[in-house]
Amino acid sequence: MTTWLRAYQPPLLLHSRICHHTNPPRSPFLSPPHWRASVCPRRMPTRAVAATTNDARLLRDGIADFYDESSTLWENIWGDHMHHGFYNPDSSVSVSDHRAAQVRMIEEALSFAGVSEEPTERPESVVDVGCGIGGSSRYIAKKYEAKCQGITLSPVQAQRANALAAAQGLADKVSFQVADALDQPFPDDQFDLVWSMESGEHMPDKKKFVNELARVAAPGGTIIIVTWCHRDLAPSEESLQPWEKELLNKICNAYYLPAWCSTADYVELLQSLSLQDIKAEDWSRYVAPFWPAVIRSALTWKGLTSLLRSGLKTIKGALAMPLMIEGYKKDLIKFAIITCRKPQDAVAYDILAYVEFS
Ligand SMILES: C[S@@+](CC[C@H](N)C(=O)[O-])C[C@H]1O[C@@H](n2cnc3c(N)ncnc32)[C@H](O)[C@@H]1O
Repeated sequence: MTTWLRAYQPPLLLHSRICHHTNPPRSPFLSPPHWRASVCPRRMPTRAVAATTNDARLLRDGIADFYDESSTLWENIWGDHMHHGFYNPDSSVSVSDHRAAQVRMIEEALSFAGVSEEPTERPESVVDVGCGIGGSSRYIAKKYEAKCQGITLSPVQAQRANALAAAQGLADKVSFQVADALDQPFPDDQFDLVWSMESGEHMPDKKKFVNELARVAAPGGTIIIVTWCHRDLAPSEESLQPWEKELLNKICNAYYLPAWCSTADYVELLQSLSLQDIKAEDWSRYVAPFWPAVIRSALTWKGLTSLLRSGLKTIKGALAMPLMIEGYKKDLIKFAIITCRKPQDAVAYDILAYVEFS
C-alpha cells in the first residue's frame, strides 16, 4: 500500500479513491474527460457515489461560506495576503513586519522554484489556484508584468479581488473568478507559472488537484505548491498516532479541511506524473512567529469587535488557532513547499502517447 493510500482521512470528509483503469494509462498530461478523474464513479456503488458527491458539495459550500464570511475581517487586519509570513528563524518581529513577511513568503517561494526574473524567461501567464482576494496575483503580475488569472470558491473573494485589481490599475492584467481547482476552467498547457499558496490543504482529492495543476501548466512551466502537510510517516508506520488524528480532526472541522497528506505524498504524486526538477522543503521553522501574531491581532480591540461581528464560522476558526501552534510544536504539522516543472516536450509526448494507445 502506498503512503498515499495510508494518508490520514478525517471521518467527516472525503475519501479519495485511486482508480485502477484497465486500459494502459496515456501521458499524464493528456486529459480527455475519462482520464481526468482520479475518482472512478462507474466502479463505485451508487450509494457511495451519492455520499461522496454530497460530501464534496458540503465541503465546497463550507469553504466558500467560510471565506465569504471571514475575508473582510482578515483584510481589515492583515491586508490582502491570506497566508503565513516567512521569518528569519528565532528573530523577534514587530507587528509591522508581518505584512513584509507575507510578501517575503512569495519572494522566497519564487526563488526556491527558480523562477527567472530575466525579461526573456520570466513567466508571462500565471494562474493563482485558490487566490483569496488576489494578493499573490497582483504582486506577481506587477513583478513580472505577467497576465494572471485567479480562482477561488468564494464569490466575495473573487469580487473583492477584481475590485482591488481595478483600483490599482491592474484590471487588464489580472482577473478573478469563482471556480473549482479540481475542475479548472482553463484549457491544457496554458500557464508559465502555476501558483497555489495555501489552498492545497482544502483539496479533498490531492491527486486530482495535482493533475489539474499539471494539466494547465504550459510545457516547461513551473508549478509551486505551498501548503500545510502532516509529518511524513516513518517506514514502519501505517498511519498517524491517534492523538495526532484527533488534533488534525479538530483543525479540519474549524477550517473546512479534508484529508491531510504528507510532503512525501505530494512528491510521490508529482513523480507519478513524470514532472521534472521536483523539490520539497519543510519551512515550518520560517513560519513559527505567524500564528502567535495572528492570535495577538485577534486579541486587540479592533480584532475582537470585528471577530464578534463577522460570524460563527470565523469565531470557530479563531478558537482553533492555538491548535495550529500545538501541531507545529509537536512536529505534526509541516509548512511545506513543493515545486516542479512540466517537461518542455510535454505536448510532443502527449501526441506520441495518444497515437500509441488509440
Ligand atoms: C488560505 S486562503 C489562501 C488565499 C491566497 N492564496 C493567499 O495566499 O492570499 C485559501 C484559498 O483557497 C481557496 N480554495 C479552497 N478550495 C478551493 C477549490 N477547490 N477551488 C478553488 N479555490 C479553493 C479558497 O477559496 C481561498 O481563496
